[in-house]
Amino acid sequence: MEGSSINPWASETSLSVERLFAEFGIEPIDQVVDRLPEKPVFFRRGIVFGHRDYNQIADAIRLNHPFYVMTGFMPSGHPHLGHLMVMKEVVWHVMQGGTGSICIADREAHAVRDLSWDDCDRYAKEYLNCLFALGYTGKTYSQRKSRDLQDLCFEASTKVNFSELAAIYGFGPDTDLGHAISVTTQVADILYPQVAGKPAPTVVPVGLDQDPHIRLTRGIAHKMRMFTIQEHDGCISVRSKNAPESAMDSIAGMFPRVRRCSGHIDIYDASCGDVKTQIRNIEIAHGGYGFVTPSATFHRFMPGLQGGKMSSSVPDSIIGFMEDDITVKKKVMGALTGGRQTLALQKEFGGRPDECPVFLLNLFHMIDDDATLAALHEQCIRGELMCGQCKSDTASRVQEFLVKFREKMDETEHQVKECGWL
Ligand code: TRP
Repeated sequence: MEGSSINPWASETSLSVERLFAEFGIEPIDQVVDRLPEKPVFFRRGIVFGHRDYNQIADAIRLNHPFYVMTGFMPSGHPHLGHLMVMKEVVWHVMQGGTGSICIADREAHAVRDLSWDDCDRYAKEYLNCLFALGYTGKTYSQRKSRDLQDLCFEASTKVNFSELAAIYGFGPDTDLGHAISVTTQVADILYPQVAGKPAPTVVPVGLDQDPHIRLTRGIAHKMRMFTIQEHDGCISVRSKNAPESAMDSIAGMFPRVRRCSGHIDIYDASCGDVKTQIRNIEIAHGGYGFVTPSATFHRFMPGLQGGKMSSSVPDSIIGFMEDDITVKKKVMGALTGGRQTLALQKEFGGRPDECPVFLLNLFHMIDDDATLAALHEQCIRGELMCGQCKSDTASRVQEFLVKFREKMDETEHQVKECGWL
């Protein structure tokens, strides 16, 4: 698979943040989070660095309007600390009033990673248990078991062709259809909350590698609309793409001042927000979807303990939720750090916390208090804290965290059963 700049199935993506902003249209998160009533750790610490269309989510949170939060997990191995951030993001958005939807991407794991269905189910339960331990409430489903999702996937498939898949993912003549179907299944995952419920903004917290899916879904959501709506000099133009004439009649009759032309209707003296809502309702009444184009946030990946990505295929790079104290200690003590070659050099020049997997483990998950984290950072760059001590402190924090987390998992295991997964 060639030709794509971000490949969701590669183990590494190394694109500069500037290029993402300039070329891919991902926007920096800073300004938009100022509109939130409360800033969680992942926004404060730059873990989530970019977004598409998050404004509509920030507004929904602030104004207490309905919105969805959805993401998917591919059950291709045991969940580990590398999955924790996105889980926390989902749970936080649910706490802010979002309606949650969690997809277990078993079709994708089967097609792309060749996992058996039984293994998918086994891992799926572990992911869900972690989510419940963090306080998740909301819907959970499996791609292979949801017939409605598959119907939506089929509809979405009618809006994608092979050249688009080639351009976005680098698919070629040798790519199997399972890959293509996983892609349109993910599109359906993202749009599905709006079909099961009413159309509303949807945020999809993901790592950057998933952006191709986000872009494709946003395009398809737009293509599946019956109308386009444009505001220009004093009027709002509603243009039919494939709307039945009866839907156009309803629109013409709904607003006091309209000018009906062939293929579009100009509406005067109305607010754009109102028009959008009304048009969406008309679209649904005529059998359409009325999708709100979904939003996304993008987080940095926590580096693996050996540098690189945290990945199940490199056991020493990850910390699993079930790992015992001795293994945790061994892995953290053996981690790559931002330290210098000798003690003397480190005392003189200080460590490099910003590129240190151990510091980042603390930044992502192990130290909640900002002042404590800032003090650690400071001590490190001043050459006051050596790596051995820092790793040993960090290992204790991880052990303590895991003990508590597993207690929570035990307490919430019944929820996995209750949602039909055991
Ligand atoms: N493709 C995602 C992964 O590799 C999993 C996934 C499936 C997903 N459906 C989704 C992610 C919907 C976000 C939204 O991990």
